[in-house]
Amino acid sequence: MSQAAGEKKMEKFDVVIRDGRLIDGTGAPAQAMDVAISGERIAAIAAPQDSGHWLGALEIDASDRVLAPGFIDVHTHDDNAVLINPAMAAKISQGVTTVIVGNCGISLAPITDIDPPPPLNLLGGRESFHYESMAAYLAAVEAARPSVNVAALVGHGTLRVGRMDDLNRTATTDEIADMRDKLAASLAAGAIGLSTGLHYKTSDAANMEEVIALAEVVSATGGIYTTHMRDEADHIMASLQETQTTAQRANVPVVVSHHKCSGPANWGRSGETLAFIEEARNSVTMGLDAYPYAAGSTVLDPDWVNDQIRIMITTSEPHPEASGRDLADIAAEWACSLKEAAIRLSPGGAIYFQIDEADMQRILAYPPTMIGSDGLPHDEHPHPRLWGTFPRVLGHYCRELGLFDLETAVHKMTGLPAKTFGLADRGTVQVGAFADLVVFDPARIIDRATFENPLQQSIGIDYVLVNGTLSLLQGNLCPDRAGQVVRNH
Ligand code: ZN
Ligand code: CU
Repeated sequence: MSQAAGEKKMEKFDVVIRDGRLIDGTGAPAQAMDVAISGERIAAIAAPQDSGHWLGALEIDASDRVLAPGFIDVHTHDDNAVLINPAMAAKISQGVTTVIVGNCGISLAPITDIDPPPPLNLLGGRESFHYESMAAYLAAVEAARPSVNVAALVGHGTLRVGRMDDLNRTATTDEIADMRDKLAASLAAGAIGLSTGLHYKTSDAANMEEVIALAEVVSATGGIYTTHMRDEADHIMASLQETQTTAQRANVPVVVSHHKCSGPANWGRSGETLAFIEEARNSVTMGLDAYPYAAGSTVLDPDWVNDQIRIMITTSEPHPEASGRDLADIAAEWACSLKEAAIRLSPGGAIYFQIDEADMQRILAYPPTMIGSDGLPHDEHPHPRLWGTFPRVLGHYCRELGLFDLETAVHKMTGLPAKTFGLADRGTVQVGAFADLVVFDPARIIDRATFENPLQQSIGIDYVLVNGTLSLLQGNLCPDRAGQVVRNH
């Protein structure tokens, strides 16, 4: 091929993405940049005037679009979903390229032969729990090859259910020793840390010493500790203090999961809680995540039911037809109390409208806050966060309400979580990093899922690439799935 003097020699790549506004995930301002991919990784980044000699086997036009790192959903319960539904439409359609599973003390491994008590049943029934080791679980994820990357936490609740004959007490020295061994083996197999759900009945009898003894094991591996705290309501400050002390004594970085001030009596207290976290960050490595909705969702527990907040049923084993209906309406129809109705609907799940919108916005806007959906993929009528979290942050809270700029919004769902959870070579767009990328329209991106109609795909996401493989095209899932297990070493 003859070339004019000074013209650069043609360079060939698998994928070239041109003319986008690159938001690289670090929080740095957007820049006009083209990105080239070879295999699984980003091979080159250059200004459009310097990439004329690039040739992509696949060329993607990103003009009038933002090009960003794929989003990292730091708080999920997708442990089983990635195995039984590896297309992961709810996540890949939002631009999510990595999910962190095993949150809230609930992980699918290492445990077998159980009738999962709540909240372990959020992951599935007895037939779902058959991974004796984290190594076996991660191998199963690799075999299923989901569309998204998966990093796994070990659930404290899972360890307790697997070892203890009575969950209504703190663990004995022997039990702690065995749980430490299981946790160490799981971390050696590639788990990235430990999670607790101290609010739940599987775990609320565990004292802080038990948790510290386990979190110490994580410290040695450079992993992370995430916690659904003992109390997110009246005693939230005591729980934050417990979280700080645990992290300090175990010498481990900690993430406060789905931070909220729960119940009308505590609305407005996020000023107080965020001030505590800000101060705590001087002495421990403390992060937090949140979802962009003024309602939470978890198992239906008759003890948590009252008439102060609206409660909507997401799933009910004895009454599947109740999914999507308000508990108050069902109780009225049955002419019984809310609690009695909840007892009859159990086991099941519910949405609790327990959060103040102003608190949620204040928490979301707090710079250290990461985005985590906490979506529950097995509910019949799930909380809309499962399908809508990331486009809702970008479209509603960033563009429409101006809670933060786009670079900050992207950082909260990419570079910040990758750094916090130790996901090497992910979360930022740089040469050598894995090509987990999303191309979206900043003027149009928005969630469509609602509480009434939660199974709606978001709009405004044009392309998603996972490890260099095109996984979403103009809103449609691609047949090739390229997710990997992300290990902590
Ligand atoms: Zn939780
Ligand atoms: Cu959760």
